Order: sequence, then structure tokens, then C-alpha cells
Amino acid sequence: MQTISKIGIMTSGGDSPGMNAAVRAAVRTAVYHGLEVYGIRRGYQGMIEGDIYRMEATDVSNIIQRGGTILKTARSKEFMTDEGMHKAYEQLQSHGINGLVLIGGDGTFRGAVEFFKRYTIPAVGLPGTIDKDLAGTDYTIGFDTAVNTAVEAIDKIRDTAEAHNRLFIIEVMGRDAGYIALHSGIACGAEDILIPETNTDIDAVLKRIDMDERRKKNVHIIVVAEGDDFGGAKELYAAVQSRFPMLDVRSAILGHIQRGGSPTCADRVLASRLGYAAVDALRTGKTQVMAGIVNGELVYTPFENCVKQHAVISKDMIEMIRVLAV
Ligand code: F6P
Repeated sequence: MQTISKIGIMTSGGDSPGMNAAVRAAVRTAVYHGLEVYGIRRGYQGMIEGDIYRMEATDVSNIIQRGGTILKTARSKEFMTDEGMHKAYEQLQSHGINGLVLIGGDGTFRGAVEFFKRYTIPAVGLPGTIDKDLAGTDYTIGFDTAVNTAVEAIDKIRDTAEAHNRLFIIEVMGRDAGYIALHSGIACGAEDILIPETNTDIDAVLKRIDMDERRKKNVHIIVVAEGDDFGGAKELYAAVQSRFPMLDVRSAILGHIQRGGSPTCADRVLASRLGYAAVDALRTGKTQVMAGIVNGELVYTPFENCVKQHAVISKDMIEMIRVLAV
């Protein structure tokens, strides 16, 4: 087992609230154990460019409550080339970094899988994404905050929708995953929820609107994930308005407000547990695994398994939405 003495920490891909809390926990745990810590700015792109600096425990003071990431983040196309990965490896070597903590989502771990096919350096990942689309953990850092931001916004929209007897289509984030839509839709009592994991039957959606109209239901809220197979709020708005020209329809895209803001208590605790666990895992010889929490217990899942499978959407939940919207 290689002794880890210098740890590099980075955040990569879309930022998520709680990333700072994870960075803080990893830095402080490493310092506690007498390891040298290096921050790698802007994810894999910063790794390629050698945007790497020495971090001390005080560099992570007063960040546990802040959204965004003090390490900055990026989506690097260059890293997905052989040349990019080689440059990144050379930068790590020149700084003497012999352990990595990678905080990110699907793209981060896909990048890691490719990198570690070519180069060997101990690495442990943390699930940092609002999308909650990684296997190997029940929750990802940032999901709870993002979904609560969506809930707050949808509740506000419902007030005005109710006042005007309007049908509202609300698009939430999730290019490939419908968890934010599913959870915020259920929590806000949406009449319909459309997600990428299930085929959207637009005729059925329109039929449900028609039934609600006949029953004189005041409000009809549809929450749609941006990556739904039928399309997002724009496409849905056009379909609804053309079938029901007499209806008062509005749409809203919540967008990046879901990625920002102060992390919830749940996200701060999750990030702290996982940041601490990642450094501990590196010290005890674990590598190329993501730390996650499943049923309250800490588990480690190989990077390739985290991205191969998508956490499954329960059929009961889909059925429940229809029942509760009756
Ligand atoms: O980080 C995940 C995510 O927020 C997805 O839900 C969304 O599709 C995507 O990132 C947006 O990415 P960008 O900020 O690069 O446009």
C-alpha cells in the first residue's frame, strides 16, 4: 500500500450547494493527519493547466455555509483527450500529489474512469451534483438544497396560479435525471410530473388536463425535467396551448437558481461525513471508489459502477402522483 503524503482536492462539473462543506471536511481531515493538501482549481481543466495551490486548515474557514465552490469548477473537453490526460498526470507528478479527492457528478467519474485506465494514482470520489443521478449513494451533495429551492419557487407559483385559475408548466433542472422534478413535484402536489426516465405520453398528459377542466379544478401544475423526452417547458407549453387555446397557460423555467444558495443542514452534514470519509479511505488504501451513504451507512462503490447504473425511479412513486392528483 502506497503511503499518501500529498492530497489534491478538486471540484468538477456543475457546482452543487455543499461542495464547499465537502472541501472543508477533506482539507481539515487531511491536515489533522499531517498530510499536505493542494487545491486544484477548475476541476480537470485546472489539473491540466497546473492551477494548483497549497491549502491550510484556515483556507476553508467560513465556507461551510456558502454555495458554489471556492475551488471553482469547469467541464473540460481537453481532459477527455489522451494529450489532456497526460498533461494532467504530469502536473500531478510535478507537484508530488499522490492522492486525489474528486468531488463531482457523472461527468467527473466518467473522466476518472478513463484517466485511471491510463495512469495509477490513488483517488476517492464524492458525489457532488444536484441531479442525484449516481448509483452508490442514496443522496448526492446538493440535491437536498436544489430540490428545496425548487419547492419554494413552485409553492410561490402555485399562489399566483390559484389566484388566476391558470395552468402552469414549470421546468426544473435535470438533463438526464428526473429526481429534482419527481421530488419537488410530489412535495408541491403537482398534477403531473414528466421525467426523462419514463416515456412521456403527451396524449395522456392532455387528457388529464381535459379531465381537470371538466371537473373545474382551479389549478393544474405540471413539473417537467429539462431533459424529458417530449421536451421542456417550451415544447409542452406549445402542445398544451394549441390543444386548449381557451386555457390561461403560463410557463416558467427555474434554471440555475437551483444550483446556488446556502446548503441545507442535510447537505452540510452529508458533505462533512463524505469529505472526512474520503481522506480516511485514501489513508487506508482505498482507491478509484466513490464514498456514498446507503441506508445510513458509509459505502464505497467503484467509479465505473457509479456511472454505469442510474439510481432507479420507483414505479410506486409514479403511480402515487396520479392517485394524489385526483
Ligand atoms: O449539474 C447538473 C446540471 O445542473 C443539470 O441538471 C443541468 O442539465 C446541467 O447541469 C446544466 O449545466 P450548465 O450549467 O453547464 O449549463
